[in-house]
Amino acid sequence: MSVDVKNAEGYKAWLKYDLVTSQENIREISRWCSRIVHLVDTRIVQAAKEELTRAISIMIGEEPQIASETVTSNHIRLATSEQLNVDEFPEIRKINEEGYLIKTVKHEEGSYILLAGKSDKGVLYATFHLLRLIQAEHSLDNLDIVESPRNQIRMINQWDNMDGSVERGYAGESIFYKDDDFIRDYDRIKDYARLLSSVGINAISINNVNVHAVETSLITTFLPDVAKVADVFRTYGITTYLSANYASPMELGDLTTADPLDEGVKAWWKDKVKEVYSYISDFGGFVVKADSEHRPGPFTYGRNHADGSNMLAEALEPFGGIVIWRCFVYNCMQDWRDRSTDRARAAYDHFKPLDGQFHNNVILQIKNGPMDFQVREPVSPLFGAMRDTNQMIEFQVAQEYTGQQRHVCFLIPQWKEILDFDTYAKGQGSTVKSIVDGSMYESKLSGIAAVSNIGNDTNWCGHQLAQANLFGYGRLIWDPNLSNEDIVDEWARATFGNNSAVIENISAMLLSSWQIYESYTAPLGVGWMVNPNHHYGPNVDGYEYSVWGTYHFADWQGIGVDRTVTSGTGYTSQYFEENMKYYESLKTCPDELLLFFHHVPYTHLLKSGETVIQHIYNTHFEGVDQAIALKEKWEALQQAIDEERFHSVNERLEEQIENAKEWRDMINTYFYRKSGIKDKENRVIY
Ligand code: GCU
Repeated sequence: MSVDVKNAEGYKAWLKYDLVTSQENIREISRWCSRIVHLVDTRIVQAAKEELTRAISIMIGEEPQIASETVTSNHIRLATSEQLNVDEFPEIRKINEEGYLIKTVKHEEGSYILLAGKSDKGVLYATFHLLRLIQAEHSLDNLDIVESPRNQIRMINQWDNMDGSVERGYAGESIFYKDDDFIRDYDRIKDYARLLSSVGINAISINNVNVHAVETSLITTFLPDVAKVADVFRTYGITTYLSANYASPMELGDLTTADPLDEGVKAWWKDKVKEVYSYISDFGGFVVKADSEHRPGPFTYGRNHADGSNMLAEALEPFGGIVIWRCFVYNCMQDWRDRSTDRARAAYDHFKPLDGQFHNNVILQIKNGPMDFQVREPVSPLFGAMRDTNQMIEFQVAQEYTGQQRHVCFLIPQWKEILDFDTYAKGQGSTVKSIVDGSMYESKLSGIAAVSNIGNDTNWCGHQLAQANLFGYGRLIWDPNLSNEDIVDEWARATFGNNSAVIENISAMLLSSWQIYESYTAPLGVGWMVNPNHHYGPNVDGYEYSVWGTYHFADWQGIGVDRTVTSGTGYTSQYFEENMKYYESLKTCPDELLLFFHHVPYTHLLKSGETVIQHIYNTHFEGVDQAIALKEKWEALQQAIDEERFHSVNERLEEQIENAKEWRDMINTYFYRKSGIKDKENRVIY
């Protein structure tokens, strides 16, 4: 990686520290931060010291002194519970293994800001938190913060291939691999680890869930390289996982089967796992995509997903490893002309009957919706439906169906809505967040994963503003009760400084962006109107797995998929009763999901008072206007933002507007031609 890249403003992302301009602020930071005392010294604490030293040196123009014993002058003190007097800091009893305290302690014999965790990881997380406060010009005189992450596994999934490509990657190539080999640029990986750790992420899988031939060897010839990468992440409290190919015993070994009940297969995996742990003693385990989109899996052998995952779980169990088994299992060649089949039903139909049959070191990873990361879909009915099975949710930070990092689409409001959704699994208040944090069913394993949005682009994400999704993902899964506004505010201040016009405009842009993207793309929960394969740009009948008929069933009379029990695919029955009734009835089904659950005439009246067709026209016209307004908001900041980031965002906004027009025209024209109903306002529809 060149020095130029490292020095780019975009590269530094939200860990961008600048010389503080106000003398008063410099004095305050210097008063507390000119000395760092570490009462504990592990590699993770060293990372914390390094981060503090780097940041403070830049912010006050002077390097802090480091000591390992207490001093009488003001300082930052790093400690774990072992070095603390618990009676003096009783809060330490309340935090969990990764939690922390940040406290301004005033003593005659030397005051300090305490950064204390139960473990060294807590110390590192406290460090990043303190630095965020300093970036936001928060006073340091009376800090008193007690934090614990709500979720246990806080994971990022790389979809990187060893040829250097990234599946659904919109920010250049992989930072890990190139030409079927590792790149071994540990500086870049370290900077990625810093970004992830700074928002509390503690787990990463480093290869695509679609494991092709070369990547299958990550668990053989490439193990020394995996170990080196794992070493970098370990220093930042992040555990490394690999996506595994279910057919590995056949592709790597000389077995003729991958049948999970075959003794030879079981023995092969046991040996393999032992070998993996001989390189990486704290290896997290395997992520597995099986029997989906042409990937191998237990179905080939007449076995189910419990058989399939338990066999791997047994191999990992002696080493403390886990199996993250994905529920994205469906038949992509399904015939959509037969209206009794429904892809939305697939995950529940496959997995619900297996509740209670999975080993306790298996965790099911369930996509947030029943389909596939659309701009809008309902929450997967699997959440809460499996009381005796560990579950985690999967989001997609990569914007596959939400603008591919060419459009601004801040996804935190979407994820928050999903986490707050009431499943009614155990009566009112059974939110998704209380299922995936393990509290509702007291699950042994629980958590949240998401597909990463980074690549080797200088600013990591292609779109500078897409960094907010990665930052926000980490912050939200640490504490799902944080508000959208707070997350945006934190990110914008850390990334762009504290100019109030900048904060105000960027916040307004991000907070409205999901709704804007939705309005000029997919109306009323219909989804899928994208070009085949790459999934970018409008194509009403386009999606590749629509070969057997469209995903939206639009004809000259109406549009939408009837998923009711009464007359449709029966998908609504997969929800607990309250939600089943809510979606089943046209009276209660919310507008934004109407076409996901019902097939209605174009003249159907929405709760908003508009007809479906008029809503389609209106939102597509408004969406373009709003996209134009986004650019105006950004342009107003030209004087306040460095050229590099200003221009790169401006170019993307320009592209967004042009693309939004294309969406508007294609979709409006399509539905005008299909329905023959004119726009009430007589706007131009080509
Ligand atoms: C989507 C995506 C694929 C990906 C799959 C998955 O279908 O388009 O590229 O492999 O999700 O989550 O496994």
